[in-house]
Amino acid sequence: MTIIKGFSKLSREEKIEYIKASTGLNNELNQTLKQYRHPEKQALFDDFSENTITNYLLPFGVAPNFLINGRKYIVPMVIEESSVVAAAARAASFWAQNGGFKITINDTEKIGHIWFTWKGNASLLLSLQNQLSDHLKASVAQLTHSMEQRGGGITGMELMPLPELENIWQLHVKFNTADSMGANFINSCLEEMKNPLVDFFNHHNLEMPDILMAILSNYTPNCLVTCQVECRINQLKPYSVGLSPSEFAYRFKTAVDIAHNNVHRAATHNKGIFNGIDAVIIATGNDFRAVEAAAHAFASRSGQYRSLSDCHLSDDVFFRFSLTLPLAIGTVGGLTKLHPVSNLAIQILNNPSAKDLMGIAAAAGVANNFSAVASLVTTGIQKGHMKLHLTNILNTLEASDLEKPILQDYFKDKTISYKAVADYLSALRKKEGLQ
Ligand code: MEV
Repeated sequence: MTIIKGFSKLSREEKIEYIKASTGLNNELNQTLKQYRHPEKQALFDDFSENTITNYLLPFGVAPNFLINGRKYIVPMVIEESSVVAAAARAASFWAQNGGFKITINDTEKIGHIWFTWKGNASLLLSLQNQLSDHLKASVAQLTHSMEQRGGGITGMELMPLPELENIWQLHVKFNTADSMGANFINSCLEEMKNPLVDFFNHHNLEMPDILMAILSNYTPNCLVTCQVECRINQLKPYSVGLSPSEFAYRFKTAVDIAHNNVHRAATHNKGIFNGIDAVIIATGNDFRAVEAAAHAFASRSGQYRSLSDCHLSDDVFFRFSLTLPLAIGTVGGLTKLHPVSNLAIQILNNPSAKDLMGIAAAAGVANNFSAVASLVTTGIQKGHMKLHLTNILNTLEASDLEKPILQDYFKDKTISYKAVADYLSALRKKEGLQ
């Protein structure tokens, strides 16, 4: 394979020519790429990444009627999967009439590490921990000053050996990053502390450490949010479709218990949670990879990957459904305010704090998880999914605005497949003399 050197230095036109020459794509490529570039703000979007040749559009939807800790929200969701926003909106409206989503923020602690190799006297080093902590905090005072003004900063640090690997140590540093996700702040502090850490060992005549790396941890088990919904079982009637509310509640709880005990089901169950959460995370310009990494690690904390949500039925009367997960997100910094559309999302949410946003995202997770499991244990999901998928099929087949309602009406009580829709559309066009 020939490696292209200096690709990033090429102009956008040259990059496109390179793609064309390498792929055989023709001039239509230019047309498509041009079509999705922003007429005024392209320079801003270009700067979010590298080698940008166009923008990738995703739908920005909203789910109204979220009642979260007594406050009403219209929740912005960016997602390409049909039915997610509709399911969230339906569940939000149902739960708003049944007390709403109750949020508890357990803590917002973020973590980072300096990893180093060291062969010295462990008890001597451990006895100097407090001095080391003061020394390192002072060494990054410039960086932490404005974060401290906003109520954040470094909240603690601890030296620990990694028992599994000989001579490997970590400096485990705890942070509060106020309303920002704080990745840049944490990484800057950690990198800035590397030399002062070495100086400290030198000053105390300790063996010299060999610093390997300094980086935040995306596993944030102390940055936890719990979202809970609760109602009397007989209130579940709108979701129990053909079952009694108690049968529905029992089947729902069993499905959640299966996800708690079976990794295959747990992964799919949690994916349903992330349909809602990721959509909010992306809409608000947060880092969905970080959020997913943290939550999947948290789902495995017992040694087995399990469902992130739980269901309890008490006295055959009450239904309680809750979700607990780490969500290290922010409402300032990063793309949140810089991306014009995530800035808009933050405004639609009425400028929430990071803690508020943790609750909002968790509520979207509960709404989508509740809807998915409710469908699975009653009608199955395909009925609803395929109805919305019909729109995608019709768009793929370039059905006109006149044809769409005819097909939607025809398929309202029929099994939807691409072939069935294509056949019916083609027959319709023949009948209308269009083919
Ligand atoms: C599909 O995007 C999500 C579900 O598979 C979630 C689940 O199975 O719980 C429906």
